[in-house]
Amino acid sequence: MTGASRGIGRGIARRLGKAGYDLTISAREGTRLQQAAEELSDITGGSVHPVAADMTAEKDVSRLVRAHDERHGRLDVLVLGAGVGFSAPLAQTSKRRYDLQFDVNVRAAFVLVQEALPLLRKTAAGRPEHGAKVIALASITGLFAEPDLAVYGATKAALISLCQSVNAEASDDGVSATAICPGYVDTDMTAWVRDRIEPRRMIRVDDIVEMALAVTKLSPCAVVPDITVTRPGRQLGRA
Ligand SMILES: NC(=O)c1ccc[n+]([C@@H]2O[C@H](COP(=O)([O-])OP(=O)(O)OC[C@H]3O[C@@H](n4cnc5c(N)ncnc54)[C@H](OP(=O)(O)O)[C@@H]3O)[C@@H](O)[C@H]2O)c1
Repeated sequence: MTGASRGIGRGIARRLGKAGYDLTISAREGTRLQQAAEELSDITGGSVHPVAADMTAEKDVSRLVRAHDERHGRLDVLVLGAGVGFSAPLAQTSKRRYDLQFDVNVRAAFVLVQEALPLLRKTAAGRPEHGAKVIALASITGLFAEPDLAVYGATKAALISLCQSVNAEASDDGVSATAICPGYVDTDMTAWVRDRIEPRRMIRVDDIVEMALAVTKLSPCAVVPDITVTRPGRQLGRA
């Protein structure tokens, strides 16, 4: 899984490890990734393999899939967790930030799915009662536009669409994909908004972890293309 060193990804990795999954975890920053791997293997007792990789570098993305395949030869759950977001009015968004968000949030996810699909199909064929899953951390901004998050929202809309394409092409073979679409979750990523939204009013990492875990338990007869998780009251449907 990508984006596993912090935040939501780390929470999902912890829970999957406790559920008995062997894990390949990835992020860019090696020291923090190594610490996450040590903490995860202490908690779970299972195999945890850290692979430092930058999702803007295609060779890193391919190396990540290869490293997992060589070690395990199967892939039950691919979690697309790595993501970046920058807030700016549409008119003032730089092309550099546009490219970075699309590279990490969409291109890397596409390449990961493309390269992992044969392994996911093989795993699903060998375990037809469970199948194999792709879980993408998308965003509510991919469903409803949010001021100042035009590019981020567009990347997450593309990720939701990528999950739908996986379902269209591979769910008959037991490989299904779910895009989880939350509003603001209390992590490092939302530090910039804490002055106007208190962390206690944000969705909890554990709320998203529960959704991800539920998806892993579904039979291949049930495809859940997306799950929207919104904050309550006046914030319904908003980030
Ligand atoms: N927090 C929210 O409110 C929220 C809401 C909706 C959706 N999401 C989505 O959920 C996912 C996780 O968000 P989070 O809040 O947990 O974020 P976070 O705490 O900022 O963690 C982001 C993770 O992605 C990794 N990452 C970032 N850029 C990367 C790159 N270029 N290559 C490889 N790894 C990279 C980070 O590790 P390194 O920095 O070491 O690379 C880290 O492990 C993201 O896709 C985000 O868009 C978050």
